[in-house]
Amino acid sequence: MNFRTLASIATLLAVFTAPGQAETFPSKPITIIVPFAAGGPSDVLARALADKMRATLKETVVIENVTGAAGTIGVTRAVRSPPDGYTLSFGHLGTHVVNGAIYPLPFDLVNDLDPVALLGANPMLVVSKNAIPAKTFKELIAWLKANQAKATLGTAGVGSGAHFSGVFLQNLIGTNASYVPYRGTGPALQDLVAGQIDIIVDQASNSLPQVQAGTIRAYAVTDSKRLPALPDVPSVDEAGLPGFHVSLWSGMWAPKGTPKEVIAKLNESIRAALGDPAVQKRYAELGLEAPAENQRTPEALRAHQKAEVEKWWPVIKAANVKP
Ligand code: MLT
Repeated sequence: MNFRTLASIATLLAVFTAPGQAETFPSKPITIIVPFAAGGPSDVLARALADKMRATLKETVVIENVTGAAGTIGVTRAVRSPPDGYTLSFGHLGTHVVNGAIYPLPFDLVNDLDPVALLGANPMLVVSKNAIPAKTFKELIAWLKANQAKATLGTAGVGSGAHFSGVFLQNLIGTNASYVPYRGTGPALQDLVAGQIDIIVDQASNSLPQVQAGTIRAYAVTDSKRLPALPDVPSVDEAGLPGFHVSLWSGMWAPKGTPKEVIAKLNESIRAALGDPAVQKRYAELGLEAPAENQRTPEALRAHQKAEVEKWWPVIKAANVKP
C-alpha cells in the first residue's frame, strides 16, 4: 500500500474520530520531534516552550531528538506519524524550506504537514575559534581566502541553518572551504570551543553564551542591525558584507489531517508560552525575537513558509547544493 493511500486512510480515520478526540485532547503525552542534537539551538528553544505548554495543556510534553541528514530524518518521522496531535514536528527555515530544494523528499514540506505556530527567529552569528588570527570580519574573510584549502566550517548537515548560511557566505566572498557536518550545532559548537574546527555561521541563540564567556570570537550578525544582547558585535552591513542577511525562524507543525480543534489547542498553548514573562526573558537572553501578535496563527506560519520557499529555493538551486 503506497504512502498516498495510507495518508488518505489516516485522514479519513482522523475525520471520523476527530470530534470526540478533539474534545478530550490531550489525553496522553505529546511528543515534539526535534530533528537536531540535544543542547543545540533548536532543542533549547523547543524545551523552553514545552515547559510552558505542559502547564496549559495539563499533559506531559516530551522532546524526542531524532537527528540526521540536516533534520530530514526527524521531519520524515513526524510526517509519517498519526494526525492526532500527539506527535509534533519542530523545525525551521532549514528543515521545512531549504531541505525541500536539496533532498528528494518523499513528501511535500508545505502540504504534508499542518502548521501550528511560528515560534520566533534569530539572526546568524559568524563565529570562530579564538586561535584564528583575525579580529574583524574583513580580517576573517581575508584569512578564509588565504586558508580555504584547509579551513573548516561546522554545520548540522547539508541544508541546515549553519550549512546554507555558510554556503551563502562563501558564495558572497568567493571561497570554497570545506564543511564538517555534526548532528546539530550544539556538538559543533563544542568542537569550535575546543579548536577542532575553525568557523560556524551559527544561530545567535546557540553561540551567544560562548561569545559572552570569551571562549570563541564573534565577527558579525547576519542582519542590518546589531543584537541587543551583543552590542559590540557589528551587523554585516557595518562589518563590510552588506546584504548577507539570514534570519533563521522556527516553527511547529503537525502531521497532515490533524483535527483543526486540536491544532487550535496546540496553537493556544504555544501563544500562552510566547506570552510568558520567563519565556520572553529567555528569548531576550538568547537573541531570539518572538513573532508579532498577528503572526501567531497557523495560517501565518503557512503563509511565511510558502513565501520563504519562493525566496530561498531559487538561491539554493542556483548554488547547486547536493545532499
Ligand atoms: C540545531 O539545533 O542544531 C540547529 O538548528 C542546526 C542548524 O540548522 O544549524
